[in-house]
Amino acid sequence: MDLNTQKERETNLELHTSNFNSLLATNLFFGEECVNKNLPLIIQEQGYSKIFIATDPGIVSSGILNKVLKILDDSSIKCEIFSEVEPNPLDVTVMKGTAIYIEENCELIIALGGGSAMDFAKGVSAVVGNGGHILDYRRGKKTLQKKCPTIIAIPTTVGTGSEVTPVSVITDPQAKRKYIIASPYIQPQYAMVDPTLTYTLPAHIVASTGMDALVHAIESYTSNAANPFSESFSIQAIKMLVKNLPTSYKDNEDREARAQVHLASTLAGFAFNYGKLGIVHSCSHPMSARYGVPHGIANAVILPYVLEFNKVTNIEKFAEIARIFDPSLKDVDEREAANQVSKVVHRFNAQLNIPSTFSHLKIDFTHSMIAELARDAMDDVGTFPFNPRKASLDEVVSIYQKVLI
Ligand SMILES: [Fe+2]
Repeated sequence: MDLNTQKERETNLELHTSNFNSLLATNLFFGEECVNKNLPLIIQEQGYSKIFIATDPGIVSSGILNKVLKILDDSSIKCEIFSEVEPNPLDVTVMKGTAIYIEENCELIIALGGGSAMDFAKGVSAVVGNGGHILDYRRGKKTLQKKCPTIIAIPTTVGTGSEVTPVSVITDPQAKRKYIIASPYIQPQYAMVDPTLTYTLPAHIVASTGMDALVHAIESYTSNAANPFSESFSIQAIKMLVKNLPTSYKDNEDREARAQVHLASTLAGFAFNYGKLGIVHSCSHPMSARYGVPHGIANAVILPYVLEFNKVTNIEKFAEIARIFDPSLKDVDEREAANQVSKVVHRFNAQLNIPSTFSHLKIDFTHSMIAELARDAMDDVGTFPFNPRKASLDEVVSIYQKVLI
């Protein structure tokens, strides 16, 4: 494919000026002890008297729940604690939490944890506000029609950006499928991004979840839904993550780097909320669903191969990304810098001890296994259509062939 053809330039221009909605539905608080400083004030200002806390056993054993409970107790705020949220929350767990929320006359939800706690909290909020069963509202079925209880999201990991997005992923164990529930009604009204909650995260989790955030930032920057509003979040998040993720991975004591990664992850959440994602995510989802590869690792491994595939769509943007990873590329022309984008990301992954392919899985991928993965990737309607370069089945197969060996 010829680089940067006239037709592509026209397409990019056309998309660049297309309509978008810039409403920031989440009020973001950032900084050390921002939970301590703001949580009771917000709850009291709104006049809520009983709070539902959605969290998981890991947050209980880490002592983070107790820290939040003390903050609430000091302000005499009553709580109902639901700490049974599992990784990839199930529909039955959402329905159980909803029943408790209603029975206990709760008025607001605090989502305390990683992506799962936030997915669960959004699910409970949806059903409390609209009735029925959570899977009634999966994408393609009913839409949420009524206002839902307020959610205050307090992320304790980096990466998902779920604290500022209107999307929840709920698993139906009988169908063995994950379903998306998306509505502005379940976007958290408040996000409290407190880096002190991430200071004890293990290094390998920082690497994988930080790379998930970096992929959110890069995919939203280069997607066909990108616009100047989303791009401003994307590019800032890319810069912050490239600068701080390796330090945060190697030096657990560097609080500034950890804080920058936490904030950049939230900015990347805003970015993909408005700018969407692409086929890194389309291809990584089946690797997690079929072979249990952690989401951030799957994204990180696939990223350089998709960049190689996508770079022809916008030489300026891919050159800009490559130069953020390797500032010495300012001395070469745009096309040469864009051509290096995959290489510099491979090098970055290596700094985080992320493998360059999935060979560590030690699976002999047959042609039919690869074809299944490719079909799943193309069925990912939430990401695949927004990739800047349209990919055929053969092209997706070809990406998998390179990354699976
Ligand atoms: Fe992701």
